[in-house]
Amino acid sequence: MNTGKILISKSKPQIIIAKTEEQLASLCANFFYRTIVERMTEPGRISVALSGGSTPRPMHRLLAMPPYLTDIPWNQIDIYWADERLVPPNDPASNYGAAKKDLLDHLPIQKDHIHPMCSPHSPGRAAEEYEGLLAEYFELEPKALPLFDLIILGIGQDGHTASIFPNDRTAIDTGRWVVPVKGGTPDVHRLTLTMPVLLKARHLFFLVTGRSKAEMVRTIFEQDSAGLPPQLLNASSNQVAWFLDKEAASLLTKNLAE
Ligand code: 6PG
Repeated sequence: MNTGKILISKSKPQIIIAKTEEQLASLCANFFYRTIVERMTEPGRISVALSGGSTPRPMHRLLAMPPYLTDIPWNQIDIYWADERLVPPNDPASNYGAAKKDLLDHLPIQKDHIHPMCSPHSPGRAAEEYEGLLAEYFELEPKALPLFDLIILGIGQDGHTASIFPNDRTAIDTGRWVVPVKGGTPDVHRLTLTMPVLLKARHLFFLVTGRSKAEMVRTIFEQDSAGLPPQLLNASSNQVAWFLDKEAASLLTKNLAE
């Protein structure tokens, strides 16, 4: 393990800055493990939602290896997605496809604990289907909100998170749990958990690496008026942690990591 200096803030949201992308993946895997272990002190299955893109892939690959592979009680966990591109699961753009290859195929986990956001149906119907699945798992009445134990998120250079894009209120001003949206890179139909669902989660982890995200990281933490989706989530009353590598944190001017 890389022993470079790690900065961990006492602020809320918590900010964790690692020297390298590898060190960050290892830190995040460790927090993942600790979050699961802590949650195991309560009864019931544990719900985790993953995101897509390239950033979480090193962490997914680490979780697929000992000690995480062997020490995490995978069979007590249900895996969901925060968002998905509506492409076939074997398409390189599929979030499920990437997670399957890096992580899920290697885990001792029952297949029926994995809940891809994939559907051959129209985006509208696919969103309703996923809501139906959540209603069943969380045993919810229509007006209640699913309570995820942990949702892992990334951000885009444009300030989106999951598939909640700035200037699109579809997934923000809503009582829905899952909505269809179109956009992003690749510019395809997508499903996303909505802002109310993300806000309700017990733990949110943002995983952000690379210089290309540094400008947006600074905007999120230093420009309060921007109203970006990750800023709305920073206001959550639950646990929010940002895992940044040095590059992603390089334009922060306030000393946040104290
Ligand atoms: C998606 C995402 C998205 C992602 C960010 C970061 O499916 O597009 O879940 O919100 O987390 O765009 O993507 P990168 O890690 O590829 O930069």
